[in-house]
Amino acid sequence: MRYKLFGNTGMEVSEMALGTWGIGGAGWDDRPEEMRLDAIRAAVELGVSFIDTAPAYNAGAAEKLVGQAIHAMGCREKVIIATKCGNDFIDGQYVRCGRPENILRECGESLTNLQTDYIDLYLIHWPDESVPFSETMGAINELKAQGKVRHVGVSNFSREQIEQAGQYCPIEAVQVQYSMVARDNEPLMKWAAARGMGVMTYGSLGGGILSGAIRQARVYDPMDSRSRFYKHFQEPMFSRIMELLKVMDGMSAARGGTPLSQFALNWAARKDFVSTCIVGAQSRPRVAENTAAFDWSLTDGEAAALDAAIAQYLEGSA
Ligand SMILES: NC(=O)c1ccc[n+]([C@@H]2O[C@H](COP(=O)([O-])OP(=O)(O)OC[C@H]3O[C@@H](n4cnc5c(N)ncnc54)[C@H](OP(=O)(O)O)[C@@H]3O)[C@@H](O)[C@H]2O)c1
Repeated sequence: MRYKLFGNTGMEVSEMALGTWGIGGAGWDDRPEEMRLDAIRAAVELGVSFIDTAPAYNAGAAEKLVGQAIHAMGCREKVIIATKCGNDFIDGQYVRCGRPENILRECGESLTNLQTDYIDLYLIHWPDESVPFSETMGAINELKAQGKVRHVGVSNFSREQIEQAGQYCPIEAVQVQYSMVARDNEPLMKWAAARGMGVMTYGSLGGGILSGAIRQARVYDPMDSRSRFYKHFQEPMFSRIMELLKVMDGMSAARGGTPLSQFALNWAARKDFVSTCIVGAQSRPRVAENTAAFDWSLTDGEAAALDAAIAQYLEGSA
């Protein structure tokens, strides 16, 4: 595992963070709870020091499993926990809730779920434009003053929204979607990194498609994240990504069968404006396959070949 300073926070984090949306048990393939718990243990054992979670991941279920695993391992001080606020999960629907009383309530619940008395990094999950940032950030400042929150970040905010929210509380980190199949956030990430913010990528495997495990288009349950969140599981992007995977297959063969997931993760991790790649996986073998990506690096030639394939198949510009 490789480690990096997380912006100007003073925290050093593993270049892979464990994502826990799927581990929460809703919106992804169903895995037994013991397997999901073991995925968390595996990540920590394999050098992951950064875990990303949220109350929205099945209404606190993901946070509870993180809390359970970390408590049982007795490693709270060694693990940097990022959790979020401002986005409730109610009856299968995500509901933005940036009102101060909601933020304060959610933080209390997260601390209980996580079996801890502090959150290393507290992110606003999605902007709630119905509430002035002065009010939302006021609640965050209160939590910081109480020692419940150590560092503050935002997720899915535009640059303008970060600047507005930053007037009331320093924004130390951003979390955005970024992978070989989702590059729109690159300018924002560069801007944030240049200002000393830690930059976390989510969907670093494109929701799993970049692992090469899914080669047939299929219709997912409407509540599945591959239906409602990661739209590239549908045409026309699906077929284009399959062409990209063929190029990755060739590169994998040239390295004696190195998994495609490791190429995808290294492609993102080598960017100097990326601090850590969040990767969601619900089992020990998948976590192990993903952490092993951080034991090697792409050559410049491999990176250029991947960029050329992205340009050719996904952006139609080569
Ligand atoms: N801030 C936000 O708004 C936001 C949005 C999305 C995600 N996130 C965070 O970012 C994390 C990562 O994103 P994500 O989970 O959405 O997508 P992801 O990490 O790109 O992909 C997750 C999918 O990839 C599969 N997978 C993982 N490793 C694999 C491997 N080695 N081989 C084959 N398949 C593999 C997983 O399968 P299994 O689940 O079956 O293991 C799951 O289906 C989330 O868990 C969450 O913590 C944040």
